[in-house]
Amino acid sequence: MNDLIMGIETSCDDTAVALVDKSGNVISSQLATQQEIHSKYGGIFPELASRAHLETILYTVNDVLLDIDISPSQIKAIGVTRGPGLIGSLLVGLNTASALGMSWSVPVIGINHLKGHLRSADLEEQRVKYPSVVLLVSGGHTILAFMQSKYEITILGSTRDDSTGEAYDKVGRMLGLTYPAGYAVDKLAMKGSPQKIKFPRPMIKEGYEFSFSGLKSAVARHIDESSKIAAEDIAASFVDATMDVLITKCKRALIEFKPISLVIVGGVSASPQLRSMGKEMCDEYGVELCLPPLKWSTDNAAMIALATWDYIDLGISPSATPELQLSLLDY
Ligand code: KG4
Ligand code: ZN
Repeated sequence: MNDLIMGIETSCDDTAVALVDKSGNVISSQLATQQEIHSKYGGIFPELASRAHLETILYTVNDVLLDIDISPSQIKAIGVTRGPGLIGSLLVGLNTASALGMSWSVPVIGINHLKGHLRSADLEEQRVKYPSVVLLVSGGHTILAFMQSKYEITILGSTRDDSTGEAYDKVGRMLGLTYPAGYAVDKLAMKGSPQKIKFPRPMIKEGYEFSFSGLKSAVARHIDESSKIAAEDIAASFVDATMDVLITKCKRALIEFKPISLVIVGGVSASPQLRSMGKEMCDEYGVELCLPPLKWSTDNAAMIALATWDYIDLGISPSATPELQLSLLDY
């Protein structure tokens, strides 16, 4: 029976391949990270990223197949990220998926990376109940949306400049932490006091739009002007300001839209601070908090595979060609 989707994700710096069934069970998953390659540059070096994908992708596919000893005839389709992402990195995944599809006689579907994140909260267990408010916070995006049902999305707001993850990574770099710095900034923040500095909370007073570049610059100015303040206090004050903005906007949406659930996805959803403040807020408003398991918060191929099932249900089959400007609404 061909009841598995193979997901392939190479949009950024992780080479990931997974097999997922229609219920979101992850049958097999492998991920080759490039963190060591990029950490010395303080960010992603695109040319090195595509070369590393090229070196690891076929081994990663092979590991997934050998892991559970299945034959390609059990694969219904290959879903591969077509964007947004780095063009060179995307092309490695897309070309590999096309070649595998041709040799296995399996259809290949180009998937929007953001749709993948959206579905990550239903991996391993069906969690999301509609209507829901969704906060997508990753290295490339910060989006707040309302979902009336699984396929009806209204975007409420997004960032006008830096994304939340980008701000985390840049602040981490200023504090001498290695890229990607989200986890390290959170850890450092737990040792500090958020009361030491009151960083600005851009655009917090109204609406659903975000802006993080002013906050990031305020942190930079503070490090320049008063280096006597301990790094952990700067980290704690930055995280406090960031969480204040994210939670305030979510709260506003919970009050206006009265959803059954709040879904938080994307790499920053791995943040323990965001997870616990999100839970506190949801308990207060009687809303269910739906989070992806930690493992599926950051980029992975299982979420791409699960999203592929939706494309099949909808009869949508974008080609395996790169598309850099996809929004959350696009397929
Ligand atoms: O979703 P993701 O893996 O890739 C993109 O689609 O961009 O998100 C990566 C981002 C990075 O900016 C990383 O620093 C951030 O997620 N991140 C975190 C944490 N873990 C990863 N940010 C805050 N706290 C974390 N624990
Ligand atoms: Zn992502």
